[in-house]
Amino acid sequence: MELAILLSLTFSILALLFTAATAASTPVEHSFHQCLSQNSDIPVPFSTTFYTPNNASFTSVLVSNAQNLRFIEPSVPKPELIFVPFNISHIQAAVICSKQLQIQLRVRSGGHDYEGLSYASDTNQPFLLLDLSNFKSIIVNIDDNSAWVEAGATIGQLYYRIAQKSKIHGYPAGLCPSVGVGGHITGGGYGPLMRKYGLAADNVVDVQLVNANGIILDRKSMGEDLFWAIRGGTGGSFGIIISWKINLVTVPSTVTFFNVVKTAEKEKIKLLHKYQQIAHKVDEDLFIRVIFQDVDAATKGEKTVQTSYNALFLGGTDRLLKVMNESFPELGLKKEDCNEMSWLDSVLSISASSGYNTSLEALIEGRPPARLSFKAKSDYVQKPISKTGLKGLLNRFLEEDSPFMIWTPYGGKMSQISESEIPFPHRKGNRFMIQYITGWFTDDKDVEAKHIGWMRNLYSYMERYVSRSPRAAYVNYRDLDLGMNKDRSTSFLEASSWGTKYFKSNFERLASIKSKVDPDNFFFHEQSIPRLM
Ligand SMILES: Cc1cc2nc3c(=O)[nH]c(=O)nc-3n(C[C@H](O)[C@H](O)[C@H](O)COP(=O)(O)OP(=O)(O)OC[C@H]3O[C@@H](n4cnc5c(N)ncnc54)[C@H](O)[C@@H]3O)c2cc1C
Ligand SMILES: *[C@@H]1O[C@H](CO)[C@@H](O)[C@H](O)[C@H]1NC(C)=O
Ligand SMILES: *[C@@H]1O[C@H](CO)[C@@H](O)[C@H](O)[C@H]1NC(C)=O
Ligand SMILES: *[C@@H]1O[C@H](CO)[C@@H](O)[C@H](O)[C@H]1NC(C)=O
Ligand SMILES: *[C@@H]1O[C@H](CO)[C@@H](O)[C@H](O)[C@H]1NC(C)=O
Repeated sequence: MELAILLSLTFSILALLFTAATAASTPVEHSFHQCLSQNSDIPVPFSTTFYTPNNASFTSVLVSNAQNLRFIEPSVPKPELIFVPFNISHIQAAVICSKQLQIQLRVRSGGHDYEGLSYASDTNQPFLLLDLSNFKSIIVNIDDNSAWVEAGATIGQLYYRIAQKSKIHGYPAGLCPSVGVGGHITGGGYGPLMRKYGLAADNVVDVQLVNANGIILDRKSMGEDLFWAIRGGTGGSFGIIISWKINLVTVPSTVTFFNVVKTAEKEKIKLLHKYQQIAHKVDEDLFIRVIFQDVDAATKGEKTVQTSYNALFLGGTDRLLKVMNESFPELGLKKEDCNEMSWLDSVLSISASSGYNTSLEALIEGRPPARLSFKAKSDYVQKPISKTGLKGLLNRFLEEDSPFMIWTPYGGKMSQISESEIPFPHRKGNRFMIQYITGWFTDDKDVEAKHIGWMRNLYSYMERYVSRSPRAAYVNYRDLDLGMNKDRSTSFLEASSWGTKYFKSNFERLASIKSKVDPDNFFFHEQSIPRLM
């Protein structure tokens, strides 16, 4: 009798404990944690590495560096779990365990993916988010012109660390300092030094990566095929980059920045016409981009499109004025427009036009610009756009609330590197790249549809003026309108329609390498590289 009571009591307590345990931990997190603990060399403390949806900090961790508000709306599927490892052994175990539990793994470094693919999913499959925010170490070695930088660091933090060690060293990556090193270099990575030194991915010399079997590889042990694929062949496709070894480049101790704004209608068209003839041909020390945005004309209260010639010159004002006088006198650049400064200060000045806080403190923190919901697309221009074409483009801009467009000059070093050197293929023959962006601040679906509709119309208008067969696009400006993988079984042929836009004929080699290094297609997302099959 007494024993029976005791037994039933024990049973109830056990049942209670069991219920409490399952309520606090969903099956996935429980089995994932158990598996990680078995497969990691060092302990995996639940309380500092796991965030489940019922944890009060889940949302703040999820949105921490997510750049596009469209993909953090409540209606968008959320990860089952955010895993924030602090040791590479945790990452190896995460690969093994996601595979074992057959749950998708998404990797996030800086969170700047244009379609939110590092933290959200379109596929309606449950997924785990592996967040690399603890991997931010940067070791600069001036003696051999190199640095090791971990995936979770931002490019601004990298620039800062380089400048701390030397005023005459730099690295040719992006203009926007909050972008993550991990995702950025996997797609190419361009910025104001590209005409002199090429892309971020052109200047990688070694890597540390965790592959689809959870094994750590470097350049030597992975071999040149995989090392080729990860330098521009898009993130989330071949492995998890832990750190890159990069090659530093030389910058003068004084560089010159200018930003010349033009709004007058006739002059604008004339200058854009000339820009298209020279931007890719001028001295490779000079990078002039054009930023287009709507402004209310001060005088009439009417909207107009403002064009800003936003530039970095790797040298002083005197030589810059000579170069401009020879190549682009129409802009009328004056000595007063030119600001001499250090390379690091030029990073801050250039970031101002993308809405960044230009304090050094913000750069060091990796603080992003104000976030909004946005949709973007890219194009490559090989023949100048006619004056009629330009007028139509500017008129379309006036129909949208706050559109933004950037023309980025190519040529120089970009034309000297062959199309197949790395997967990024947009080299010789390109005058400039266009990026179109429109943004809004609400999760109202009608508002979203209106803006996205405007963007798609603009894109179809531009078709006749830009590259064709394929109509090329920049993979770091990811655009799911171009197409996407249905599921893991999508083949190279089915994906070619969008894959060749990003990679041209390199797409087939990417798919062939993918088949070899990740035959189960473990590293998968809407636009990951499919297998050749
Ligand atoms: C505000 C803003 C400014 C930008 N400015 C520039 C610019 O000046 N120049 C330029 O070239 N691009 C620019 N970009 C585009 C940017 O390069 C890409 O969005 C890039 O992929 C972002 O990398 P991330 O690590 O921040 O993004 P994430 O969203 O973390 O990752 C992007 C993709 O890479 C994958 N990935 C992330 N980390 C890893 C890893 N460690 N290993 C393997 N795969 C990984 C993700 O799964 C995802 O598919 C900008 C983007 C934004 C939002
Ligand atoms: C949320 O997760 C963090 C990190 O794992 C942990 O420190 C905290 O105790 C958790 N909070 C709750 C309410 O579970
Ligand atoms: C990971 O753990 C191993 C074993 O304890 C240690 O040697 C290594 O330094 C750690 N690495 C990181 C990045 O914490
Ligand atoms: C600009 O070039 C013209 C010749 O092309 C020359 O006459 C003039 O002096 C130059 N001006 C400057 C400021 O260098
Ligand atoms: C920029 O950041 C600095 C440092 O955090 C801050 O003091 C300053 O007010 C910020 N400026 C703007 C315009 O937000």
